[in-house]
Amino acid sequence: MSGKTFYIETFGCQMNAHDSEKVIGTLMDRGYSQVERPEDAGLVLYNTCSIRDKAEQKVFHRLQQFQRAAGKGKLFAVLGCVAQQEGEKIFDRAPHVGLVAGSASYTRLGEMLGRLESGERRVTGLSLVTDETFDTPFTRRDNPHRAYITIIEGCDKSCAYCVVPFTRGPERSRASHSVMAETRRLAGQGYSEIQLLGQNVNSYRDPSHARWDFATLLGRVAEIPGICRVRYTTSHPRDFGKDIVDAMDAHATICDHVHLPVQSGSTRVLAAMDRLYTREDYDQRIAWLKNARRRYSITTDIIVGFPGETESDFEETLDLLDAVEYDSLFSFKYSPRPNTSALSLGDRIPEEEKQRRLAILQEKQRAIQIRRNAELIGSVREVLVEGRNQALEQWIGRTSDNRTLNFAGAGANGPSLLGKYVSVRVTRSGPNSLVGESVTVV
Ligand code: 5AD
Ligand code: SF4
Repeated sequence: MSGKTFYIETFGCQMNAHDSEKVIGTLMDRGYSQVERPEDAGLVLYNTCSIRDKAEQKVFHRLQQFQRAAGKGKLFAVLGCVAQQEGEKIFDRAPHVGLVAGSASYTRLGEMLGRLESGERRVTGLSLVTDETFDTPFTRRDNPHRAYITIIEGCDKSCAYCVVPFTRGPERSRASHSVMAETRRLAGQGYSEIQLLGQNVNSYRDPSHARWDFATLLGRVAEIPGICRVRYTTSHPRDFGKDIVDAMDAHATICDHVHLPVQSGSTRVLAAMDRLYTREDYDQRIAWLKNARRRYSITTDIIVGFPGETESDFEETLDLLDAVEYDSLFSFKYSPRPNTSALSLGDRIPEEEKQRRLAILQEKQRAIQIRRNAELIGSVREVLVEGRNQALEQWIGRTSDNRTLNFAGAGANGPSLLGKYVSVRVTRSGPNSLVGESVTVV
């Protein structure tokens, strides 16, 4: 092995994926090169997620697998949400780990790596006290066409089930001029799609004199020359104002998609979850979107089996699915998490019942998606080409409203369409994706 090498595996959300891009950039700036297999690496990093129990267990399985390799000088780092949540306990459970750091400490990552390199063991970065965001000039972006930009880190809400405020700390917004400068630079480098990221982007508050709110920032980013698509995630219904819909209506470059996690269709359960909105409040937001100038696809997250959720609460969630007809949704069984206020409510819905509700919900949603997607057959959609499925001889495209639309076309011998915008006529549909044929290269 020549020089310093690292391997990184990332779990969890897009925030984590983007944090890893920044971590990779920081490591490369320090002279490390990335390898594909942990076996080949001098430093193995896991950027972890603790949103649900299963996500959390993964890192400990990985660490166990490599316990023996540790004796041979390999270094291990646990980053991200499990690191923040478990802290120094990780050293007890996996003594071969040398660095444990949560995302709020990544501004000190270079310094922590330096200490690790100079032989220090049990290096930690666990403080949540910071006003800073992790902006680094070294970000190593994975995708040459779509770039993530963090606009706000942390979360000030206290949803009863959620670890994020404990793992990512309080909200810190990034100055609007810094977001704008980064977007302009990325546009200059050929990125055409920007995804604004934060645990709750809607509560963005510009710390600079400009004092932009989220809707203003969204609109301004969308006006930057060279930027064809702007996405944002994730939203909180409480902070999702009509001004955001107006900004979307006013800017064709803002994608036709809103992810608006509802969690439950029952006001009673929403109150128990401390979500700070009622079913009626949520319905109002959906009405804004449905009455907007363009047709926006709407997706959501739902938790089944929250403590105290009755059959009739669950039916209200099913009723919400019929009313909104989501374009897609993520659904989860409630998982009790450390530090959260819902822990005191116990975990009262039996596993089989959670599973039953999840299956009913997913089956209902599947039928909705089959029907909605079939309605698109015959229409022409513009896709950004994101990849190629060699086996199927298809290009993988994404529509503005966040659907996967694949289409046949020349492969290795023809011109590469990667990163291009192509008009595609939809010819077939399934519950999760569409297939079509290209009409023109835009
Ligand atoms: N149990 C189950 N699902 C959860 N989520 C967050 N915390 C939990 C939990 N404790 C889900 C929510 C959130 C998504 C990212 O993960 O639906 O929107
Ligand atoms: Fe997982 Fe939440 Fe942390 Fe993202 S912020 S990695 S979803 S625990």
